[in-house]
Amino acid sequence: MEIVVINGSPAGENSITLQTVEYLKALFPQHTYTTLHVGRQIRSIERDFSQARAALEGAELILFCYPVYTFLVPSQMHRFLELIKEHHVDLAGTYASQISTSKHFYDTTAHRFVQDFCADLKLRYVRGLSADMEDLLTEEGQTEAKEYFRYLLWNIRRGLSEPPSCRSSAPLPGVPARDVKETTLSQKLHVALVADYDPEDPDALLPGMIRRFKKRLPGSMELINLREYPFKGGCLGCFHCALDGTCIYKDGFDEFLRKHVNHADAVVYAFTIKDHSMGSRFKLYDDRQFCNGHRTVTMGKPVGYLVDGDPDAEENLRTLMEARAEVGGNFLAGIASNRNNPDAEIDQLVRRLVYAVRNHYTEPKNFYGVGGLKIFRDLIFEMQGLMKEDHRFYKEHGFYDFPQKKRGKIAAMYLVSALMNNQKLKERGGVDFTEGMLKPYRAVIKKAMRRG
Ligand SMILES: Cc1cc2nc3c(=O)[nH]c(=O)nc-3n(C[C@H](O)[C@H](O)[C@H](O)COP(=O)(O)O)c2cc1C
Repeated sequence: MEIVVINGSPAGENSITLQTVEYLKALFPQHTYTTLHVGRQIRSIERDFSQARAALEGAELILFCYPVYTFLVPSQMHRFLELIKEHHVDLAGTYASQISTSKHFYDTTAHRFVQDFCADLKLRYVRGLSADMEDLLTEEGQTEAKEYFRYLLWNIRRGLSEPPSCRSSAPLPGVPARDVKETTLSQKLHVALVADYDPEDPDALLPGMIRRFKKRLPGSMELINLREYPFKGGCLGCFHCALDGTCIYKDGFDEFLRKHVNHADAVVYAFTIKDHSMGSRFKLYDDRQFCNGHRTVTMGKPVGYLVDGDPDAEENLRTLMEARAEVGGNFLAGIASNRNNPDAEIDQLVRRLVYAVRNHYTEPKNFYGVGGLKIFRDLIFEMQGLMKEDHRFYKEHGFYDFPQKKRGKIAAMYLVSALMNNQKLKERGGVDFTEGMLKPYRAVIKKAMRRG
């Protein structure tokens, strides 16, 4: 495949983000990669756009790679995106995705910005990789990068992409899948489908979407209609559950949740958009999960949504669905709605759920997940005397990653600062830290090349 990498980092070849691409190149050498250093060369690209145009027009996959800069992409890359539009480059139907590195501070808005740009240009967008700048130096980060790329290629081979994110965008025409080998599971997939609809309403659209989902699912599905669950009431915030995990209500919900939802391979939520939300019944369900404290008990399991309504018209609700998955440590396999092409979206959701269960697919957490966990980490640490179950869980899962524990790194930063301030070194033109910073990344890539 012809892959064009848009390197948006002003650091050019010395970009940390670009090292992830180099790593992927070593692991997937069967593709052709062309890199446009738009972050470093924006001035010359502005003067002459012809080379960039030729590269873009010849691409089968465009990979936007950049550091997150102040909520978004660097200004140089931002300008490059403007230029693509100003030069009317027709990229409709080409695949696109993105890789960023950052400290996850508002990586969500940056990714959404690039996704919306892709929708404007009718690119077929597949969700990108948002990595911490040091992820590639860890085995977990390397696996995440590799698995992201495998997932991206899997989507492309099957003609799958995210439903367009901009309201103005027309739905993309279908693409034929290439060399598709159907995914099979060694064991049957069991999905808990948590829904909220009135079973007596003959006009309800959700039951039809659920039937379609069930028909396509290679496995079993337990339908849990929240309207039929005998809840005694909403969470009272009494903290009774903090001590032993049991709720003060005796309606069996905590046990029900553990047995019927938490044991499923994947969880799908189905609802009709009402008053910009999932409705108060779903809210009751979420609040009552406080009986699990701040423990992410479905961690690692994929989730998905069946939505009756237009989720694109509800920015806050979309954020909520993504944040819910991020904080729960769940891969969001998709949001299938009945806005445009419900059958195709439901089928895609099923295929992605199957892929995620089979491959234990997870993504690095983004701003919602990383930020949310830091808040809870501090809270549970302070409240460990009361929230004993949470405290045990957080210790077990290494959630107490307080920065003050990284003494080596703190000391290294003092050393760097001292060297930068050293008068003699300054007189000799200063210290170039780029090589030192990139050295461990290059070692990872070298190792991958030897293996590849
Ligand atoms: C001007 C500037 C703005 C930045 N803004 C953010 C930000 O909003 N969120 C974040 O998590 N990191 C931010 N960072 C950190 C970079 O995203 C991070 O260092 C990145 O890995 C650098 O990648 P590169 O070497 O490919 O340029 C910023 C860095 C700079 C220099």
